[in-house]
Amino acid sequence: MADLIVALDVSTKAEVADVIARLGDAVDFYKIGLELFSAEGPDVVRLVKAAGKRVFLDLKLHDIPRTVERAVKSGAALGVDLMTIHASGGKAMIRAAADAAATFGDKAPKILAVTCLTSLDQTDLDDLGVQRAMPDQVEALGLLAITNGADGIVCSPREVANMNKVLTPAASKPVVFVTPGVRPAGADVGDQKRVATPAGAVRDGSTHLVVGRPILEAADPIAAAAAIRQEMDAALK
Ligand code: C5P
Repeated sequence: MADLIVALDVSTKAEVADVIARLGDAVDFYKIGLELFSAEGPDVVRLVKAAGKRVFLDLKLHDIPRTVERAVKSGAALGVDLMTIHASGGKAMIRAAADAAATFGDKAPKILAVTCLTSLDQTDLDDLGVQRAMPDQVEALGLLAITNGADGIVCSPREVANMNKVLTPAASKPVVFVTPGVRPAGADVGDQKRVATPAGAVRDGSTHLVVGRPILEAADPIAAAAAIRQEMDAALK
Protein backbone atom coordinates (compact mmCIF):
# COMPACT_ATOMS: atom_id res chain seq x y z
CA MET A 1 0.00 0.00 0.00
CA ALA A 2 1.53 3.32 -1.07
CA ASP A 3 0.45 6.70 0.29
CA LEU A 4 -0.71 9.72 -1.66
CA ILE A 5 0.55 13.05 -0.26
CA VAL A 6 -0.81 16.36 -1.54
CA ALA A 7 1.69 19.26 -1.59
CA LEU A 8 0.24 22.33 0.11
CA ASP A 9 2.03 24.79 -2.17
CA VAL A 10 0.12 27.78 -0.83
CA SER A 11 1.17 30.49 1.62
CA THR A 12 -1.70 31.08 4.04
CA LYS A 13 -3.62 29.07 6.62
CA ALA A 14 -6.87 30.19 4.98
CA GLU A 15 -5.84 28.55 1.70
CA VAL A 16 -4.80 25.39 3.58
CA ALA A 17 -8.16 25.20 5.34
CA ASP A 18 -9.86 25.63 1.98
CA VAL A 19 -7.84 22.81 0.31
CA ILE A 20 -8.44 20.42 3.20
CA ALA A 21 -12.17 21.19 3.22
CA ARG A 22 -12.41 20.81 -0.55
CA LEU A 23 -10.58 17.47 -0.66
CA GLY A 24 -12.25 16.06 2.46
CA ASP A 25 -11.81 12.31 2.88
CA ALA A 26 -10.19 11.97 -0.56
CA VAL A 27 -6.80 12.93 0.93
CA ASP A 28 -5.41 12.21 4.39
CA PHE A 29 -1.73 13.20 4.01
CA TYR A 30 -0.33 16.67 3.24
CA LYS A 31 3.12 18.14 2.61
CA ILE A 32 4.06 21.44 4.25
CA GLY A 33 7.15 23.02 2.73
CA LEU A 34 9.36 26.02 3.42
CA GLU A 35 7.09 28.61 1.83
CA LEU A 36 4.08 27.76 3.94
CA PHE A 37 6.03 27.04 7.13
CA SER A 38 7.95 30.32 6.84
CA ALA A 39 4.71 32.22 6.41
CA GLU A 40 2.51 30.53 8.99
CA GLY A 41 4.86 28.62 11.32
CA PRO A 42 3.95 25.62 13.48
CA ASP A 43 0.31 26.73 13.65
CA VAL A 44 -0.23 25.49 10.13
CA VAL A 45 0.98 22.02 11.17
CA ARG A 46 -1.45 22.12 14.09
CA LEU A 47 -4.26 23.10 11.72
CA VAL A 48 -3.62 20.13 9.41
CA LYS A 49 -3.21 17.70 12.32
CA ALA A 50 -6.41 19.03 13.94
CA ALA A 51 -8.23 18.08 10.73
CA GLY A 52 -7.10 14.49 11.38
CA LYS A 53 -4.54 14.45 8.56
CA ARG A 54 -0.96 13.20 8.45
CA VAL A 55 1.82 15.75 7.81
CA PHE A 56 5.04 15.58 5.82
CA LEU A 57 7.12 18.54 7.08
CA ASP A 58 9.52 19.22 4.23
CA LEU A 59 12.06 21.69 5.64
CA LYS A 60 15.18 19.93 4.29
CA LEU A 61 17.22 20.49 7.46
CA HIS A 62 20.96 21.01 7.03
CA ASP A 63 22.85 22.37 10.04
CA ILE A 64 25.12 21.27 12.88
CA PRO A 65 23.94 18.02 14.52
CA ARG A 66 22.76 19.70 17.73
CA THR A 67 20.57 22.18 15.85
CA VAL A 68 19.09 19.50 13.60
CA GLU A 69 18.44 17.28 16.63
CA ARG A 70 16.46 20.09 18.25
CA ALA A 71 14.59 20.97 15.07
CA VAL A 72 13.57 17.32 14.62
CA LYS A 73 12.35 17.22 18.22
CA SER A 74 10.29 20.39 17.63
CA GLY A 75 8.74 18.87 14.51
CA ALA A 76 8.10 15.55 16.21
CA ALA A 77 6.43 17.34 19.14
CA LEU A 78 3.96 18.82 16.62
CA GLY A 79 3.07 15.26 15.63
CA VAL A 80 4.43 15.30 12.09
CA ASP A 81 4.76 11.94 10.34
CA LEU A 82 7.62 12.58 7.89
CA MET A 83 10.47 15.12 7.99
CA THR A 84 13.31 15.85 5.57
CA ILE A 85 17.01 16.48 6.11
CA HIS A 86 19.88 16.85 3.60
CA ALA A 87 22.08 13.74 3.47
CA SER A 88 24.99 16.08 2.65
CA GLY A 89 24.82 17.35 6.25
CA GLY A 90 26.95 14.31 7.01
CA LYS A 91 26.93 11.19 9.14
CA ALA A 92 26.73 12.86 12.56
CA MET A 93 23.89 15.14 11.48
CA ILE A 94 21.89 12.25 9.97
CA ARG A 95 22.44 10.20 13.12
CA ALA A 96 21.40 13.15 15.33
CA ALA A 97 18.15 13.50 13.36
CA ALA A 98 17.38 9.77 13.53
CA ASP A 99 18.17 9.57 17.26
CA ALA A 100 16.07 12.65 18.01
CA ALA A 101 13.10 11.14 16.16
CA ALA A 102 13.55 7.81 17.96
CA THR A 103 13.01 9.45 21.35
CA PHE A 104 9.34 9.80 20.32
CA GLY A 105 8.88 6.00 20.26
CA ASP A 106 5.87 4.89 18.24
CA LYS A 107 5.08 8.56 17.53
CA ALA A 108 8.49 9.14 15.93
CA PRO A 109 8.42 10.89 12.56
CA LYS A 110 10.22 9.08 9.77
CA ILE A 111 13.39 10.87 8.73
CA LEU A 112 13.88 11.20 4.99
CA ALA A 113 17.09 12.30 3.34
CA VAL A 114 17.36 14.44 0.25
CA THR A 115 20.36 13.28 -1.79
CA CYS A 116 21.04 15.78 -4.61
CA LEU A 117 18.46 18.45 -5.31
CA THR A 118 16.99 17.88 -8.76
CA SER A 119 17.79 21.53 -9.52
CA LEU A 120 21.51 20.64 -9.53
CA ASP A 121 23.43 19.20 -12.47
CA GLN A 122 26.93 17.86 -12.98
CA THR A 123 28.36 21.38 -13.42
CA ASP A 124 26.99 22.34 -10.00
CA LEU A 125 28.64 19.27 -8.47
CA ASP A 126 31.91 20.32 -10.11
CA ASP A 127 31.51 23.83 -8.65
CA LEU A 128 31.00 22.23 -5.24
CA GLY A 129 34.16 20.17 -5.63
CA VAL A 130 32.24 16.89 -5.86
CA GLN A 131 34.16 14.61 -8.20
CA ARG A 132 31.62 11.79 -8.49
CA ALA A 133 29.21 11.57 -11.39
CA MET A 134 25.68 12.60 -10.37
CA PRO A 135 24.18 9.06 -10.25
CA ASP A 136 27.10 7.86 -8.08
CA GLN A 137 26.74 10.87 -5.78
CA VAL A 138 22.99 10.18 -5.40
CA GLU A 139 23.69 6.52 -4.51
CA ALA A 140 26.51 7.40 -2.12
CA LEU A 141 24.41 9.97 -0.24
CA GLY A 142 21.45 7.57 -0.14
CA LEU A 143 23.63 4.87 1.38
CA LEU A 144 25.15 7.32 3.86
CA ALA A 145 21.65 8.28 5.00
CA ILE A 146 20.25 4.76 5.27
CA THR A 147 23.28 3.33 7.07
CA ASN A 148 23.16 6.15 9.62
CA GLY A 149 19.58 5.74 10.71
CA ALA A 150 17.48 7.63 8.16
CA ASP A 151 14.20 5.87 7.31
CA GLY A 152 14.21 6.69 3.64
CA ILE A 153 14.93 9.14 0.87
CA VAL A 154 13.19 11.59 -1.41
CA CYS A 155 13.99 10.90 -5.04
CA SER A 156 12.75 11.24 -8.58
CA PRO A 157 10.37 8.47 -9.70
CA ARG A 158 12.89 7.83 -12.49
CA GLU A 159 15.55 6.96 -9.87
CA VAL A 160 13.44 4.99 -7.46
CA ALA A 161 13.89 1.51 -8.99
CA ASN A 162 17.66 1.79 -8.88
CA MET A 163 17.72 3.36 -5.42
CA ASN A 164 15.52 0.52 -4.18
CA LYS A 165 18.02 -1.98 -5.52
CA VAL A 166 20.95 -0.18 -3.89
CA LEU A 167 19.45 0.81 -0.53
CA THR A 168 17.11 -2.00 0.43
CA PRO A 169 19.87 -4.62 0.88
CA ALA A 170 21.88 -2.13 3.00
CA ALA A 171 18.98 -1.27 5.31
CA SER A 172 17.95 -2.93 8.56
CA LYS A 173 14.28 -1.91 8.11
CA PRO A 174 11.94 -1.29 5.15
CA VAL A 175 13.07 1.85 3.31
CA VAL A 176 10.64 4.70 2.64
CA PHE A 177 10.82 6.09 -0.91
CA VAL A 178 9.05 9.41 -1.40
CA THR A 179 8.71 10.62 -4.97
CA PRO A 180 7.48 13.98 -6.30
CA GLY A 181 7.34 14.53 -10.07
CA VAL A 182 4.27 12.36 -10.57
CA ARG A 183 1.86 13.05 -13.40
CA PRO A 184 -1.10 10.93 -14.50
CA ALA A 185 -0.86 10.02 -18.19
CA GLY A 186 -1.95 13.00 -20.29
CA ALA A 187 -1.68 15.54 -17.44
CA ASP A 188 0.11 18.88 -17.83
CA VAL A 189 3.71 18.33 -16.69
CA GLY A 190 4.20 22.03 -15.79
CA ASP A 191 7.83 22.68 -14.83
CA GLN A 192 8.50 19.02 -13.99
CA LYS A 193 10.89 17.46 -16.47
CA ARG A 194 11.48 13.88 -15.38
CA VAL A 195 8.00 12.69 -14.52
CA ALA A 196 6.42 9.26 -14.12
CA THR A 197 2.83 8.11 -13.85
CA PRO A 198 1.40 7.11 -10.46
CA ALA A 199 1.32 3.44 -11.56
CA GLY A 200 4.91 3.57 -12.80
CA ALA A 201 6.17 5.19 -9.59
CA VAL A 202 4.44 2.63 -7.38
CA ARG A 203 5.59 -0.32 -9.50
CA ASP A 204 9.17 0.92 -9.23
CA GLY A 205 8.94 0.94 -5.45
CA SER A 206 7.72 4.40 -4.39
CA THR A 207 6.04 4.12 -1.02
CA HIS A 208 4.75 7.72 -0.96
CA LEU A 209 3.80 9.88 -3.96
CA VAL A 210 3.80 13.67 -3.62
CA VAL A 211 1.37 15.35 -5.99
CA GLY A 212 0.53 19.05 -6.18
CA ARG A 213 -0.88 20.74 -9.24
CA PRO A 214 -2.51 17.69 -10.91
CA ILE A 215 -4.88 17.60 -7.91
CA LEU A 216 -5.00 21.21 -6.70
CA GLU A 217 -5.51 22.71 -10.14
CA ALA A 218 -7.92 20.06 -11.42
CA ALA A 219 -11.47 21.10 -12.30
CA ASP A 220 -12.59 18.37 -9.89
CA PRO A 221 -9.82 17.85 -7.29
CA ILE A 222 -11.62 15.00 -5.51
CA ALA A 223 -12.02 13.06 -8.75
CA ALA A 224 -8.37 13.74 -9.65
CA ALA A 225 -7.16 12.45 -6.25
CA ALA A 226 -9.44 9.41 -6.48
CA ALA A 227 -8.18 8.57 -9.99
CA ILE A 228 -4.55 8.74 -8.83
CA ARG A 229 -5.32 6.61 -5.75
CA GLN A 230 -7.08 4.05 -7.94
CA GLU A 231 -4.15 3.94 -10.37
CA MET A 232 -1.74 3.41 -7.42
CA ASP A 233 -3.86 0.62 -5.93
CA ALA A 234 -4.31 -1.11 -9.29
CA ALA A 235 -0.54 -1.04 -9.88
CA LEU A 236 0.08 -2.89 -6.62
CA LYS A 237 -2.34 -5.72 -7.41
O1 C5P B 1 2.71 20.47 -8.39
P1 C5P B 1 3.67 19.32 -8.34
O2 C5P B 1 2.99 17.95 -8.38
O3 C5P B 1 4.78 19.43 -9.33
O4 C5P B 1 4.29 19.44 -6.87
C1 C5P B 1 5.29 18.60 -6.42
C2 C5P B 1 5.79 18.99 -5.07
O5 C5P B 1 7.00 18.28 -4.81
C3 C5P B 1 6.15 20.47 -4.91
O6 C5P B 1 5.90 20.83 -3.54
C4 C5P B 1 7.61 20.51 -5.21
O7 C5P B 1 8.28 21.56 -4.57
C5 C5P B 1 8.09 19.17 -4.64
N1 C5P B 1 9.34 18.67 -5.26
C6 C5P B 1 9.46 18.42 -6.62
N2 C5P B 1 10.61 17.94 -7.15
C7 C5P B 1 11.64 17.70 -6.39
C8 C5P B 1 11.55 17.92 -5.02
C9 C5P B 1 10.38 18.41 -4.49
O8 C5P B 1 8.51 18.63 -7.35
N3 C5P B 1 12.73 17.22 -6.92
